Amino acid sequence: MASKPEKVKVGIIGCGSIAPAYVRGCTFFSSILELAACADIDLARAQDFALEHDLKTYSVDDLLADPDIQIVINLTVPKVHAEVSLNIIAAGKHAYSEKPLGVTREEGQQILAAAEKAGVRVGCAPDTFLGGGIQTSRKVLDDGWIGEPVAAVAFFAEHGPEAWHQNPHFFYQFGGGPLFDLGPYYLTALVSLLGPVKRVMCSARISFPERIATSETWFGERIPVEVPTHVSGTLEFVSGAVATVITSFDIWADTLPRIELYGADGSLSVPDPNAFRGPVRVWQVKNQEFQRREGGGWHEGSWHQVGWQDVPLTHDPQVSRGIGVADLAYALRSGRPHRASGALAFHVLDIMQSFYESSERGQAIALTSQCDQPAPLPLGLLQGTLDE
Ligand SMILES: NC(=O)c1ccc[n+]([C@@H]2O[C@H](COP(=O)([O-])OP(=O)(O)OC[C@H]3O[C@@H](n4cnc5c(N)ncnc54)[C@H](O)[C@@H]3O)[C@@H](O)[C@H]2O)c1
Repeated sequence: MASKPEKVKVGIIGCGSIAPAYVRGCTFFSSILELAACADIDLARAQDFALEHDLKTYSVDDLLADPDIQIVINLTVPKVHAEVSLNIIAAGKHAYSEKPLGVTREEGQQILAAAEKAGVRVGCAPDTFLGGGIQTSRKVLDDGWIGEPVAAVAFFAEHGPEAWHQNPHFFYQFGGGPLFDLGPYYLTALVSLLGPVKRVMCSARISFPERIATSETWFGERIPVEVPTHVSGTLEFVSGAVATVITSFDIWADTLPRIELYGADGSLSVPDPNAFRGPVRVWQVKNQEFQRREGGGWHEGSWHQVGWQDVPLTHDPQVSRGIGVADLAYALRSGRPHRASGALAFHVLDIMQSFYESSERGQAIALTSQCDQPAPLPLGLLQGTLDE
């Protein structure tokens, strides 16, 4: 009888707000992942976290020196993502980073080049596009329900995280802002649905020069704003589709959709790309009999409008952060490409930096990076596995 393949041992660097979500994700995918240890620049924080989640505590250097750990998840703050990922790669381990991959194109390039040289893989969040909501949207698109996609909109509109986050400063520093913080969810979802982008245009502004924290730890603290907080951009995809994207920390209330795609034969409402669930809704022209024109006007009596319809999810909405790490682990086992890849994250980073450059220069920017559209997840997977 064939023995069960070994699990892939994983370590975490950065035991802050998002780290518990990865503990849950590794547990959900315990078919392949074994979360063994954690580290933080703040050793006491790592020790508390390890105690709470039954992990081994290490210094960052000791975690990187553990020969059993194959994948290291980098959950540090954006401005040190590149430094930490480069150290992970230098230790000969596969690096899976929270978004963004780095805070500049140059950092992203360094990470990809170092990984290629070292023969290790780079993965990067977000992995929400592997959730039931966006995978179902992909299936609807790929099966032609709305025909050839011609356009899309994507909107993130809020008034910033200083009211709830315990460490809100980094959101307003270089590498933060709504574009670098939330943009990766929207842009990764769009690239996973529509393929790579070839050209962008953008206008961006800092609307308020400082923010006042109201979360418990920093209540009343004035936070200087270093990055644009309202970013309004346009994407031209290689496929020819065109998307409008707004990311903003300047909006108190809105009624905008999260993502909608418009095709030759219908429209698709894509759920929040910062979550793994539905609803997915579709509107198809074939259900709209009133389209039939007779005698130069709409023919009375032929009205049969089905309108928007909910689509049952084709993929598991219970998955959570960590599915990208599990997919990387399965990919290492079989040798196939992983989906939440460094190339995809680099393309998204290139789009984001190009948005800022377009806004500063007042001109369109042609992208130099490209990436493959990630393969859709297969249907019928057992919960907690990605075996293909
Ligand atoms: N908080 C969220 O809701 C959320 C959601 C999705 C993604 N993220 C992403 O996760 C990452 C971390 O966010 P967070 O909210 O957990 O931040 P956080 O500030 O709560 O935690 C970051 C941790 O990294 C540690 N750290 C910083 N520099 C380090 C270094 N050089 N070496 C080792 N450890 C270091 C800090 O001590 C801290 O414990 C960010 O990239 C963020 O964009 C956060």
